Amino acid sequence: MDRKILIEKILNIKKEKNAVILAHYYQVGEIQDIADYIGDSLQLSQKAAETQADIIVFAGVHFMAETAKILSPSKKVLLPDLQAGCSLAASAPEAEFSAFVKEHPDHKVITYINCTAAVKTWSDVIVTSSNAVKIVESFPKDQKLIFAPDKNLGAYINGLTGRNMLLWDGACEVHETIRTESILKLKIQYPEAKLIAHPECKQPVLILADFVGSTAAMLDFTVKDPCQKFIVATETGIIHQMQKLSPDKQFIVVPSDETCSCNDCPYMKLNTLEKLYLCMLHETPEIILSDDVIEKARKPIVRMLELSKNK
Ligand code: 13P
Ligand code: SF4
Repeated sequence: MDRKILIEKILNIKKEKNAVILAHYYQVGEIQDIADYIGDSLQLSQKAAETQADIIVFAGVHFMAETAKILSPSKKVLLPDLQAGCSLAASAPEAEFSAFVKEHPDHKVITYINCTAAVKTWSDVIVTSSNAVKIVESFPKDQKLIFAPDKNLGAYINGLTGRNMLLWDGACEVHETIRTESILKLKIQYPEAKLIAHPECKQPVLILADFVGSTAAMLDFTVKDPCQKFIVATETGIIHQMQKLSPDKQFIVVPSDETCSCNDCPYMKLNTLEKLYLCMLHETPEIILSDDVIEKARKPIVRMLELSKNK
């Protein structure tokens, strides 16, 4: 279908059905351009909690749409492709995670939002990459802590806070492929460029970075910093907004290996404009969760939202 007609159709259904489109920064550009709100995981969960729309169309991955459903259980939450998962969320199956939590009864459980709703029910508080340090610091220094599922983000926070959180052995398959060798080559090629990185990257990458932060924080940095060139160590989708907000600046994506010049999240990129249209038209695939899971998973998410106020 012609793009213009497709976009018009999406906008018409959105109005007709009182729907809101929330899109993550890793979505393809044309989805970002049609969305009502674009943001990082924290911003999108805040929007999902406060929306007056009847339908939330989540252009992101499964755990994000689940979080929206948990925060707005009376609304219909749609995900354009149900296969849009996340390797981090998949690295913590509920059965293994709950057993791990039970083995450490004296630990509080801090869980990164990139996990399933079932895993959230075993958590004391949820964090995202933009509020993790603040929330970890809200626990007394002598409190034993579990951090799951991202070992890279966990190690990074341990380093910043001086904590010794017990880390679950999970990682993002996209950020794990970003290597220092590729970055060093780019640094030689563009000596004036600043390196910005997502904290899901491995420690050697983060050590080299001039700035580490969530997708929204990295975007904000590129707008405010006077530097004209940035080496970007994260998923490619974010470049769309960076380039839009700073058209005269140059953004260089770190290639994941010698044969590839892009770090596309295979799950985020399952969503397309066509699937977005079809899911709004037929109101499926829909996120369905049991009342019990919603009730239990809601507590640690609401706690995160409370602790994230007045940042
Ligand atoms: P942000 O919360 O920084 O947008 O991260 C989400 C994510 O999935 C990163 O891989
Ligand atoms: Fe999950 Fe990594 Fe994709 Fe983010 S980029 S959704 S952490 S697989």
